[in-house]
Amino acid sequence: MSAALIQAQSLDVSHPGADRPVLSQVSMAIHPREIVTVVGPNGSGKSTLVRALLGQVAPSSGQVRRAQGLRIGYVPQRVHIERAMPMTVRRFLSLPVRVNDAQAAAVLERTGVPGLGQRQISALSGGQFQRVLLARALLNDPQLLVLDEPTQGLDQPGIVAFYRLIEEVRAETGAGVLMVSHDLLVVMRASDRVICLNGHVCCQGTPQVVSAAPEYRALFGAEAQGTLALYRHRHDHDHDHVDEHVHGPDCGHHHPAQKA
Ligand SMILES: Nc1ncnc2c1ncn2[C@@H]1O[C@H](COP(=O)(O)OP(=O)(O)OP(=O)(O)O)[C@@H](O)[C@H]1O
Ligand SMILES: [Mg+2]
Repeated sequence: MSAALIQAQSLDVSHPGADRPVLSQVSMAIHPREIVTVVGPNGSGKSTLVRALLGQVAPSSGQVRRAQGLRIGYVPQRVHIERAMPMTVRRFLSLPVRVNDAQAAAVLERTGVPGLGQRQISALSGGQFQRVLLARALLNDPQLLVLDEPTQGLDQPGIVAFYRLIEEVRAETGAGVLMVSHDLLVVMRASDRVICLNGHVCCQGTPQVVSAAPEYRALFGAEAQGTLALYRHRHDHDHDHVDEHVHGPDCGHHHPAQKA
């Protein structure tokens, strides 16, 4: 496999004032053309991992290695713009880096919302807004796209369509994609690899492997059964994936904040 775009080795991260680390001994990597999705309960450290990879949060130990000059397009979980504030899509695409009209039009076309440039941000549907966020993240021609819950607020067909769009972008640009998502069924259908996180890496591997992993099923319970069913029919004749499954320590560790 080609060299990793970004790689975490034995990351420990603690937030100030917290009595235990948010992330312990997290190791993972993303390669070009891979769609990697991080799943885990609320408060399990997914956004913290994303921010540590981006260098926005300093690990207390371990390290993050980025390919030299890596161009990253990032959509954070919470976008700090007031959607009610008057601003056109065109203007939004020029923040913080100015783009010309042709670039703006092209990127809106690519993300499936052509001609929306003069529309107010506040007038967009949830799905259109997510596509505009993706459009802005694509403007820098990223080699790695990092999307923290980009499908929040979308309905099921919207989520499926969004993943299809990500696959198209990957095919066109060769970018690697790191996503955080709660929609297990779509994740399992559309990711190349899944990382199951709960303060540490519970398990990671192909969707088939993760959906059958006891750690994953312990974490997601009944919801996990549905994703397991996706692959069960292959079970009798598909054993060559066994070694791809990287087990982590016991998944039962919960952070105090998760009980809230
Ligand atoms: N800046 C911060 N300072 C202190 N604690 C923080 C900070 N950011 C996150 N935390 C805590 O770290 C833990 C993990 O938070 P994080 O946002 O990474 O979780 P998450 O898996 O992304 O959750 P969600 O699914 O709700 O987005 C939580 O207990 C959270 O309260
Ligand atoms: Mg989060």
